[in-house]
Amino acid sequence: MKKIIAIEDKQFELFIEQELIEQEIRRIAERMNAELKGKKPVFIVVLNGAFMFAAELMKQISLPSEITFVRLASYIGTSSSDDVKKIFGLNESIRGRNVVIVEDIVDSGNTLTILIEELKKLKPQEIKIATMLFKPAAQRRKINPDYVAMEIPNDFVVGYGLDYGGQGRNLNNIYRIK
Ligand code: IMP
Ligand code: MG
Repeated sequence: MKKIIAIEDKQFELFIEQELIEQEIRRIAERMNAELKGKKPVFIVVLNGAFMFAAELMKQISLPSEITFVRLASYIGTSSSDDVKKIFGLNESIRGRNVVIVEDIVDSGNTLTILIEELKKLKPQEIKIATMLFKPAAQRRKINPDYVAMEIPNDFVVGYGLDYGGQGRNLNNIYRIK
C-alpha cells in the first residue's frame, strides 16, 4: 500500500486505511439497523463523493429500504464555497418518509444546511444524517450528524470517494494533504 501519493500539484500521505474505514462504517450501519428498526427509510446519497461510502454502508443495512442519488455541486479546489446549488435527481416523493442523507464529509456544513432546507419543503417525516467523515473544527453552520463513521481534524483529504480536482475518488484508503 502506498504511503505517499501525488495528485496534480499536491502530495498526500496515508491517513485512514480501508480496513478501519469499513470497520467504522459497519459500526454505524449496525446502529442504524437497531435505531431505525420497524421503519422503511429512504437513503439519499449525495453524489459524487458519497458513492463509495454508500456502497459499503448499504451492504450492511438490513432494513427494508430504498436508495436514491442526488447531486449538488459546491466545492472548488480545497476550500468550501458558500453558494451551494440546487438538488438534482430527486424524482421520488419523500413525503412522510424517514429520510437518511448519506454524505461523504461534513466540512463547513453549508451543503447539508441547504440540502436539509430543500428536503424539508418536501415534508418528510424525519431527516437523519449519516456521514463518513466529520470535521467539527471546520464547521460554520451548526450540523449534528446522527451517524458519523469517523471524526477528523480540519485537513484536506482524498480517497474513498473524496476528490482533489476530480481525482482520487477511486483510492481505497483515505489520504491527507501534506
Ligand atoms: P461543506 O463545506 O460541509 O458544505 O462540504 C461540501 C463538500 O465539500 C463535501 O460534501 C465534499 O464533497 C467536499 N469536501 C469537504 N471537505 C473535503 C475534503 O477534505 N476533501 C475533499 N472534499 C471535501
Ligand atoms: Mg459531498
